[in-house]
Order: sequence, then C-alpha cells, then structure tokens
Amino acid sequence: MNTFSTHTDHSDLFNLDMIRKYDKAGPRYTSYPTAPMFHEGIGAEDYAETLRRVADDTAPLSLYVHIPFCNTVCYYCGCNKIATKQYARAVPYLETLCKEIDLVADTLGYGPGHAGREVTQLHLGGGTPTFLSNEQIRTLVGKLRKRFRFADDAHGEYGIEIDPRECDADTVAVLREVGFNRMSMGVQDFDPHVQKAVNRIQSREQTLHVLEQARAHGFHSINIDLMYGLPHQSVETFDRTLDTIIEFSPDRIALFNYAHLPHMFMPQRRIDEGDLPTPLEKLNILEHSINKLLAAGYVFIGMDHFAKPDDELTIAQQEGKLYRNFQGYSTMADCDLIGFGITSIGYIGGGFFQNHKDLGTYTEAVEAGRFPIFRGYILSPEDHLRRQVIMRLMCDFALDFASFEREFGIVFREHFADALAQLREFAADGLIELRDDGLRVLPAGRLLIRNIAMTFDEYLNRKKTSFSKVI
Ligand SMILES: C[S@@+](CC[C@H](N)C(=O)[O-])C[C@H]1O[C@@H](n2cnc3c(N)ncnc32)[C@H](O)[C@@H]1O
Ligand code: SF4
Repeated sequence: MNTFSTHTDHSDLFNLDMIRKYDKAGPRYTSYPTAPMFHEGIGAEDYAETLRRVADDTAPLSLYVHIPFCNTVCYYCGCNKIATKQYARAVPYLETLCKEIDLVADTLGYGPGHAGREVTQLHLGGGTPTFLSNEQIRTLVGKLRKRFRFADDAHGEYGIEIDPRECDADTVAVLREVGFNRMSMGVQDFDPHVQKAVNRIQSREQTLHVLEQARAHGFHSINIDLMYGLPHQSVETFDRTLDTIIEFSPDRIALFNYAHLPHMFMPQRRIDEGDLPTPLEKLNILEHSINKLLAAGYVFIGMDHFAKPDDELTIAQQEGKLYRNFQGYSTMADCDLIGFGITSIGYIGGGFFQNHKDLGTYTEAVEAGRFPIFRGYILSPEDHLRRQVIMRLMCDFALDFASFEREFGIVFREHFADALAQLREFAADGLIELRDDGLRVLPAGRLLIRNIAMTFDEYLNRKKTSFSKVI
C-alpha cells in the first residue's frame, strides 16, 4: 500500500502564494531524461540491435502508433499534426506504417511459429487517429494483431484519442470491434466565443453522442481533455463547461494548462494575445476547476489528471501501482514501448528511440527498408535511478528511500544530497514532508510536483529548450 492515500484531504491543494513563488517553466516528465537530451548519435542500427536483444524478454510490450492528420487545425494546438482536408493522404501513410510494423516484427523475429512478447498496451494518438476511415482502422489494427500477440480485453489497455467532430456511431462500433477499450476525447471548452477564437467548433450534443456510444459499446474508461488559459476564458465561462462535463460524467478528466509557445507552433500565432486571460484569471480558473471537480467526486491523480474514485487509475495510485509514460498516467507496469509513425518515441531495452518528424524523410526510410530513427538516448545507470525517482514522485507523491537503496545500491541521502538540500525550502514552505527515510508531497505541493521532480533532474541546466510554465 502506498504511503500516500488519495483520500487525503485535498482542501489545501491550491495555494496561490506557493504557485506564484514556484511557478516556472519545466518539463512534464513523460520521460526522463526528457526529449531535449535525445541526440542524433543514436540511429537505425542501434534500434535494430536493441530490438533483437529484447525480443525474447518476458515482460509485456506496449505499442504506440502516431496518426498525424487533422481535418482542421485548432489554433492552440501544440501536438505533432498535419492539417489537411485530403483524406487520400492517409492511404500512403497507412501503407508505410504497415511496412514499419513488418520491419519491427521481422527484426524481433515475431510471426508464424514465434508469437513473441505479449502486448498489453496499445495507444493510437495524433493528430486525429479517426482521420483514418473505418476500413483503414481495421487494416492497421489487423496488421498489428497479425504481427503481435495481444492480451485479451480484460488484461490489456487499448486506447485511442478521438476528436468527437471526426467520429460517428459506426466508427465507435468499429473501434470497439477491433479491440479498443479506452477512449480519450478532446473538448477543451464548450463556450462558443472561446471555440471560435481557437477554431474548434464542437457542440455538446456531438460530444455527448460519442460518449454515449462509447459507453454503449462497453469502453472501460473514457477521458475528456479540457484546457484552461484559452482566449476569452473566464471563471464564469469555464464554470459552464465544467457543469456540462460533470453532467457527462467521464471516468477521467485531463485539465491542461494552455501552453502558448507561438515561436514553436505556427497556428498559435492566430491567437490574439490580448484575448488570453491574465495570469491571475488563469489561476482563478484553475482554482475554481480543481475545487469543482473535487466537489463532484473526482480525485486529483497528479499532473493535470483527475479520475473517479473507482477508476483503475485511482485504484492503481492507492496501491502504489501507477506508472507514467508518453501518454500520461497508466496502470501498466513500466514496460518496453515500441513507437510507429512519424515523431513517435519508443522506450526499449533502456533507451529512447525517436522516428523522423518529417513525413517525407520517414516515408523514404521505411520504403527503403530502413528504420526511420533519427535520434535517441541510451540511459546510464544513473539515468535509470533518477528516472525511477521521478516516476515514483509523479505517481505516488512520495518516495521511500529504502526501496531505492535496495534496488540501486546507493545511500539515498548521500547520493541525492544536492536535491535534498534544495528540497529543504519546499519543506519549509509546507509543500513536502521530509523525513530521514523518505519524503511525502503535502497537498499544497501536489500542483507543484514538476518543480519537486526538477530537483532530481541532472540535466535541467544543460538543456537549451522552451518548456511550458508549470501552472
Ligand atoms: C492529440 S490532442 C487530442 C485528440 C484529438 N486530436 C482532439 O483534438 O480531439 C491531445 C490533447 O492535447 C491538448 N493540447 C493540445 N495543444 C495544447 C497546448 N498548446 N497546451 C496544452 N494542451 C494542449 C488538448 O487538450 C488535446 O485534446
Ligand atoms: S487539438 Fe486535436 S484536432 Fe485540434 S489540431 Fe490538435 S491534434 Fe488536431
């Protein structure tokens, strides 16, 4: 049992003074080391060797497939996507994806006579995965199921990101038929003024329809993405969106802080900065949203995520069995992850491997029978230790020093003397409780978990990059 219970009083979660004091740019730690540490010294050959080395390991596998296309562009979007109305573009992309799947499975030696490691996790992300037609979705998942051995519905987390504007009842039925059992859908905000300013017009009815269809088809868990900090948002307008969402009652809610980085994401330049809520209004929206979601019975899981008390994420957290990967929080143990498609990142055999971000370069490599890897990172023993520390902090809101001492043969207080010295200020501010044998994040520190994790990041000062603000 975890030392931190999610039933702890959350009333102190939002502490304006502390947020103001500690709010600075920082990574989201969906990986450690984070992507800016990846380098081009790692390529296709390293990937092939690693795949061969791990082919017969016993731990399960996780698969990620990136579908970059979107029919329209939402101006706020910071995802890796290609906006196009030409659905025909999915045809060659799917062909290349299938070739990449074959390339990986061939290298692993999986196929007839060798079922290979069991896949317990599949995630289709984007962009908009339902940009693919129902037939194309069948082809893609059929290909994956032909080359990999999937755990059954009760033992696998098979998720897909849905844009409700691009998904009808037939599509939901097909998704369930091919095995998806988790769904995440983008909403952001239902206010018409906000929707117009971000070029994402999406009705409540449309959204509710997809949600009801997903429930009727027995999806195990449904998530809705919301965002605060968008143009024209205020506590009053967002309150109405929250009312609707609470009425819809999804199993999980992600409440993202809008990361406005127009120098990195071109479409964001179409957002008039004068329309953005002030930093104070933004914090008021966050405070109000947290209080409202908690009052509605949701549990704060950590890093933007809320879930119902009976959702598997909440239960996993209470049992100390929560994990974090590129898709956010997960109940599946930290396992090797294979990525397919442009920009995707895998984590295999102790290393990160990222595919080309450019569609042409990706396609050219795969069509020539080469792995489309353009950069990566092989973790050192020290990286593994710090990765584990950051993962447990983000998932448990607590660290038990003895468990790291047993697993990594270190004396925690000596090894992390620098981090612990920095953390004394957090303790003095009431954000964490620091003991001789461990630390526990207090309610007021939970929204600042990134800042706490940052003290264990060995590379933070060496990275030249733009991270978004923590809150
Ligand atoms: C790939 S998108 C979701 C799937 C689908 N394309 C859709 O829009 O419905 C994943 C989520 O990232 C979040 N997101 C996108 N851009 C963001 C930004 N600039 N800052 C914070 N969150 C962002 C949104 O909440 C979005 O729903
Ligand atoms: S939020 Fe979703 S639909 Fe909108 S541009 Fe981004 S990936 Fe595409």
